Amino acid sequence: MAFAADPSKPQGASASSGLVVLGLETSCDETAAAVLRLREDGSAEVLADCVYSQIEEHTPFGGVVPEIAARAHVDALDALIRRALDEAQMGFADLDAVAATSGPGLVGGVMVGLMTAKAISLAADIPLIAVNHLEGHALSPRLTGACPFPYLLLLISGGHTQLLAVDDLTEMTRLGSTIDDAAGEAFDKTAKIMQLGYPGGPAMEQAALSGDATRFDLPRPLTRSPNADFSFAGLKTAARRAWDALDNPDEQDRNDLAASVQAAIADCLADRSRNAMAMFIERHPDEAERRFVVAGGVAANKAVKSALETACADFGFTLSAPPAKWCTDNAVMIALAGAERLKRGEISDLDAPARPRWPLDQRAAADDPASGAGRKGPKA
Ligand code: KG4
Ligand code: ZN
Repeated sequence: MAFAADPSKPQGASASSGLVVLGLETSCDETAAAVLRLREDGSAEVLADCVYSQIEEHTPFGGVVPEIAARAHVDALDALIRRALDEAQMGFADLDAVAATSGPGLVGGVMVGLMTAKAISLAADIPLIAVNHLEGHALSPRLTGACPFPYLLLLISGGHTQLLAVDDLTEMTRLGSTIDDAAGEAFDKTAKIMQLGYPGGPAMEQAALSGDATRFDLPRPLTRSPNADFSFAGLKTAARRAWDALDNPDEQDRNDLAASVQAAIADCLADRSRNAMAMFIERHPDEAERRFVVAGGVAANKAVKSALETACADFGFTLSAPPAKWCTDNAVMIALAGAERLKRGEISDLDAPARPRWPLDQRAAADDPASGAGRKGPKA
């Protein structure tokens, strides 16, 4: 629960230095710690940005194993925080607050980061800010200072797929989201069917380079529906059927199916984005405000980028993406979200819960759930 900070206690080291926040990220398979200064003029200065990727721990299992992820966070986090503070040349006493992802995500991992942040908050006597991981992603384009509000954000990672109208810091409206798998999950699961290894996205893109995208006729789920929601489960099933129907599939078969799957995913993402662009224009008719930002691991895919570029050109949007290191999971975006909230005096109680599911846009989630709310709600 968020409440106003004690006004008698100055928030920030000094008016000129802005707010210095330690951010922690442990919601999936990246352990991350960062130190960020939010300057008085609203710009952000990254003082330390440390990430430990657990990919090697999960590769033998072909996907993220929650229990292994949680243990790896426990093993890595303390040393990572020490490294981040060393890089920033700071101690706990120099911090104005500690911010940690408190959901949505794999709850074992979220608990590791959140409990660590609570301990630091108590020991250093600084405020705790429990941050929504999606708010971190939504604010990440602002880390370079080149993205004013409002903008339309397409977040496409292994865990999330959604379209958000980001009107202001706390004004984010979900225009569409997945009703089953995330886009990255669709790449990973279909890649697994073709024995392309993990993570599947980059392997699929590589294979697709030598493939014929027109060979397999795969479905584009939901592309005729008027909303901006996504669905990838049917595509995965169709890809499995196509693969199973092949007699002793060779490398060319694999490349052709990879190219066909990639084209189908890119088409779905662009089609749903077009609907969201129309919705965004209704909210913001000013042509100067047509900014489209794509973030998340899948944003690295060139076929996806190119389909989105065409959609943006048709609707008069400019397309941009945060730098790759802040496109994927990181703690800098969590520190930024924490600092922005601290600036507004919004800090969290020490009993802030770890939330496996936490829709960013509570109103949309309640009024128009893509696939139910609460425990049955979408991962995204
Ligand atoms: O944002 P991210 O690094 O981590 C989270 O899921 O939070 O995204 C990882 C996802 C994986 O599903 C991976 O297969 C996908 O992004 N990905 C790609 C590419 N690079 C990463 N998908 C398609 N093409 C790529 N080049
Ligand atoms: Zn993420």
